[in-house]
Amino acid sequence: VAEVRVAVIGLGFMGRRWARALAEHAGATLAAVSDVREDVARDVAERYGAIAIAEPLEAAVRPDLDGVAICTPEHLHTDVALAAIDAGTPVMVEKPLAHTVADAEQIRDRAARRGVAVLVGHVLRFDPRYAAMHRAIGDGEIGKVQAVRSERIGLVSDQDVLGGRTSLALYYGVHEFDLCRWYAGDVAAVWTARSTGVLERHGFPVDDIVSVGLRFTTGAHGTSTVGWCLPPGTPGYGVAGFTVIGEHGLLRVAQGDVGLLAVGADGLVDHDVYYSPEVNGLLYGAIGIEADHFVRVIRGEVEPVCTAADGAAAVRIAVAVEEAARRGEEVAV
Ligand SMILES: NC(=O)c1ccc[n+]([C@@H]2O[C@H](COP(=O)([O-])OP(=O)(O)OC[C@H]3O[C@@H](n4cnc5c(N)ncnc54)[C@H](O)[C@@H]3O)[C@@H](O)[C@H]2O)c1
Repeated sequence: VAEVRVAVIGLGFMGRRWARALAEHAGATLAAVSDVREDVARDVAERYGAIAIAEPLEAAVRPDLDGVAICTPEHLHTDVALAAIDAGTPVMVEKPLAHTVADAEQIRDRAARRGVAVLVGHVLRFDPRYAAMHRAIGDGEIGKVQAVRSERIGLVSDQDVLGGRTSLALYYGVHEFDLCRWYAGDVAAVWTARSTGVLERHGFPVDDIVSVGLRFTTGAHGTSTVGWCLPPGTPGYGVAGFTVIGEHGLLRVAQGDVGLLAVGADGLVDHDVYYSPEVNGLLYGAIGIEADHFVRVIRGEVEPVCTAADGAAAVRIAVAVEEAARRGEEVAV
């Protein structure tokens, strides 16, 4: 099979991982990388033998590319995604698909009209534990889903990267809301309770932690609690987990304990053993599996596991959550 030629646009925390995963993939060539920080683009390009392009929109429309991975900040996905879609090139867009419902649905609709594949980077769908829960539900192992409970609570130091640029619902919430839909179907309505203070004291005008109540169109119900207020040094990059209760069983991922204890002279040491772990000098884990899936999507072998419609649906729930928090009442999705 001929190697697919791909580009990565936005080379921060996620983009550098995508660049590495695609460069190391046996079926892909990392042909180009782009970042508004030209020195970063040059560094990454040199490491993998790609070309560096300063202007993201120029990188998005190059005719010699078979796929483009978009890893720019949350609110800067839309123009780059639309440009690549208009050029007929399959794209991977990091979550959240966009920062507004209108933008997300524009990407969804444009891709449908042009017949271009869009994979939305909801990486948890590629984490073997969360994927196993989906398979088990599909196989009827727990019967009809009655309730879900999820949590994802990160650290104050998340803002070292984010600097207050996005919201809890759009950053962590979309992960959970996408899984909620994957496991229990469409969400009909949401309501919330929230706390503030810790992040504000650090200078970021965002909530600390939000609990979201969800009602699904099937009659199932549940909660998602998302936050980013844990102190620096909390092991395991925070805590996360997902429980699904069915009529005759349950499924649960507990993400806090990664199954590896590492202690150095200064105490606990975090190792990523699930998302982008290095094994024998190569990057694997959920991001490796996700990158492999993207290569197969580009080749036309499979449909995206998480489509633009899925990505837009998660954004719609997140925006409804923000409205519910503002109004202090239940909001239909
Ligand atoms: N799937 C996950 O688990 C996961 C984890 C973290 C972040 N993300 C998502 O990945 C995306 C990127 O987040 P990040 O943490 O890598 O952020 P980041 O700030 O580390 O990286 C963003 C990069 O984009 C560059 N950039 C800024 N504006 C640009 C533009 N207009 N064109 C091209 N490049 C531009 C910046 O210079 C930076 O290098 C976000 O959508 C984020 O929510 C996903």
